[in-house]
Amino acid sequence: MNTPAFEIRPCTNVLGAEILGIDLSKPLSSETVDLLRKTLFDRGVIFFRDQDLTPEQHIAFAQRFGEIDINRFFTPVEGYPSIAEVRKDPDQVSNIGGGWHTDHSYDLAPALGSILYARELPPCGGDTLYASMYAAYDGLSDGLKKTLEGLCALHSSRHVFGEGRTREWGDLKGRLQNMGAATQDSIHPIVVRHPESGRKALYVNPDFTVGIHGWTQKESAPLLEYLYQHAARPEYCYRFVWGPGSIAFWDNRATWHYAVNDYSGVRRLMHRITLAGVTLTPDSIDLSAEQNRASA
Ligand code: SIN
Repeated sequence: MNTPAFEIRPCTNVLGAEILGIDLSKPLSSETVDLLRKTLFDRGVIFFRDQDLTPEQHIAFAQRFGEIDINRFFTPVEGYPSIAEVRKDPDQVSNIGGGWHTDHSYDLAPALGSILYARELPPCGGDTLYASMYAAYDGLSDGLKKTLEGLCALHSSRHVFGEGRTREWGDLKGRLQNMGAATQDSIHPIVVRHPESGRKALYVNPDFTVGIHGWTQKESAPLLEYLYQHAARPEYCYRFVWGPGSIAFWDNRATWHYAVNDYSGVRRLMHRITLAGVTLTPDSIDLSAEQNRASA
């Protein structure tokens, strides 16, 4: 078997890897795709630098890893409905993704991951933070792990993107759309077994998780707040500094991300393609009846 001719350089002990010496505009062998997939699922996020891709090549790269999941809330790139525009213009204050989250956890089968490609960057700032949910799970006490394993959480898009939303959009007008489509809720185990790596990961996030299933808001909030503080500990995080042509490809089941909004008066323009995922299970809980109720 030929060894793919690129280098995989881990970013921290628990998260991320830079892939060096690869040109994503060229067709990739199946062996290369397999190794990139394995690295993605193991490290949670992989980074590429100095890539020069047309939108068609971005799409072709994404399709090697799965089916594209079209985001219903982000304005698409003109002429490319499968690419979402993640854009902040010089006159805007708010940004997209400026809080810890994992994409599409409100869907019954949450997205596998996203491939974010830098098109225009501020001279400095606009980094993206990532946090490992494998490390967050591993770092819990045995007692709390045991408690969490029997629990599920509710996730929703309504309060962020919906008609009656409680989250401020600020001046994101024109960047987000389709409020009427924010009707999807879902229930997922709080501890999931990653469908590819087989590892356990914490699966709640501050943006889209709205409570613990079967618990009141008052009961849920302190435990969720504790998990959010714990999961964002610096030792589980990595800060990616973008350069021209950088790509971050993250796994939503194994990481959180956070777009740092520390620049103003300049444009930051990224193209995001999201890949469809599968239903998440803890191995031990049959969620089908609950899932059907949540989506009814
Ligand atoms: C996102 O949340 O998808 C945006 C991340 C970023 O712009 O860095």
